[in-house]
Amino acid sequence: MKVDTLLTGGMIVTAQDRFVGALGIRDGRVACLLDSAAGVDAQQVIDVSGKYIIPGAIDAHVHFQDPGSPEREDLEHGTRACAVGGITTAISQPVNNPPVFDVATYRETLAGYEGRSYVDYGLHGGASSGNLDQIELLWTETGAPALKMMMCYSPKSYGMVDDGQLYRIMQILQKHDGLAYIHAENQAIVETLEKQLRAEGRTDPLSYLASRPSWVETEAVRRALILAEQTGCRVILAHVSCADSLEMIGEARGRGVSVFAESCPHFFTFIDEDIVEHGPYLKFSPVMRDEPNLRRLWELLAGGAVQTIGSDHCPYAPEEKTPGLTNIWDAPNGVPGLEVLLPVLLDGVSRGQLSMERLVEVTSLNPAKIYGLYPRKGHLSPGADADLVVVDPSLVKTLDLQDLQTKCPYSPYLGKTFRGWPIMTMVRGVSVAEGGAITGAAGHGRYVSRTN
Ligand code: URP
Ligand code: ZN
Ligand code: ZN
Repeated sequence: MKVDTLLTGGMIVTAQDRFVGALGIRDGRVACLLDSAAGVDAQQVIDVSGKYIIPGAIDAHVHFQDPGSPEREDLEHGTRACAVGGITTAISQPVNNPPVFDVATYRETLAGYEGRSYVDYGLHGGASSGNLDQIELLWTETGAPALKMMMCYSPKSYGMVDDGQLYRIMQILQKHDGLAYIHAENQAIVETLEKQLRAEGRTDPLSYLASRPSWVETEAVRRALILAEQTGCRVILAHVSCADSLEMIGEARGRGVSVFAESCPHFFTFIDEDIVEHGPYLKFSPVMRDEPNLRRLWELLAGGAVQTIGSDHCPYAPEEKTPGLTNIWDAPNGVPGLEVLLPVLLDGVSRGQLSMERLVEVTSLNPAKIYGLYPRKGHLSPGADADLVVVDPSLVKTLDLQDLQTKCPYSPYLGKTFRGWPIMTMVRGVSVAEGGAITGAAGHGRYVSRTN
């Protein structure tokens, strides 16, 4: 057999199993998976003995903030961060300026992305109180993997949906087997608590956490689950922070409700009191919870209660965050995270918190299936795109400013040490990052549309 590239000696991991073998790539796709390299005629052979080969991560929760806020992030920097982080497909959130609220904006946003990305990319559509008349077309006339909506303001400029609007959107999407991607927090309660805390003169970081207790999330998740069950709409709950929410979602799934749970690396790294040290740089929503919750999250992740991990990479410019150092209410919500999505989970693997197979399932196979990119993406079987990551499971490294490719010059993860790092990322058989350095080119990344 003839191939372009042959990776030899690595531990190939799928969501089901693992084996030491060789992986051949031809014309950007996986050509073969073999026990040995014998008899294969390869133009290039890469020995990855002692390393893992896993399918590239698909991060469906990336705020490139492009177009609209180049001082925060852009597609070039964001997808460079994806490349070094082992994310081979990034799905852009619609929370841009302009937000992706109609088909024309969807197409214009994609036209603006042409030729600029280092990894493959998709684009979600958006739903808010002002575009209910656009929902059907946004789903049927675009390749959007999901439509994103907020049950609270995040940010205020994007707007939110009330329960009636959420119900209506789900009814429309259900007709087309569409996917509602929901930020679930109770806006009225957040507003009330924030008002009370401000009236008490509170401006410290912990007061922000006090405005968003866990029941602000669990109440909204419960409401979203009821609407999902009543409408039959497919739903994914974004950035779930509470173990209790995951258990409710699991219970609904058990009854056949078509609902999925996404969680994020920051919930597996930080706990509530860390905001005292990091202040506005660790301000996002939903907020971090206590240590017992963090332990339960790892157990639930290992046990299958989390279907996908998304970074929720959402940088703000330093000058937007710094006012929060003196008054936490004055900083916007969002944290960068593309470079650390895999290291956070790989470190969990090294500590026995989850298996590599489970990591592959939540970072690649499940997102590919949920967002309609499977069978082209999400696995390493012959015929699939050769999107893969070579992982060194024993590399121990502390995150440093120079490891960041994002435009964002701060990260709450700086100084954190992880065991297990991506050392090579390939997108459709082409190396886009090696040893933390970019080897790919802007424009290699292609748009991927959902296929269902
Ligand atoms: O605080 C967060 N998560 N900011 C990003 C926007 C969102 O709500 O996902
Ligand atoms: Zn959100
Ligand atoms: Zn987000």
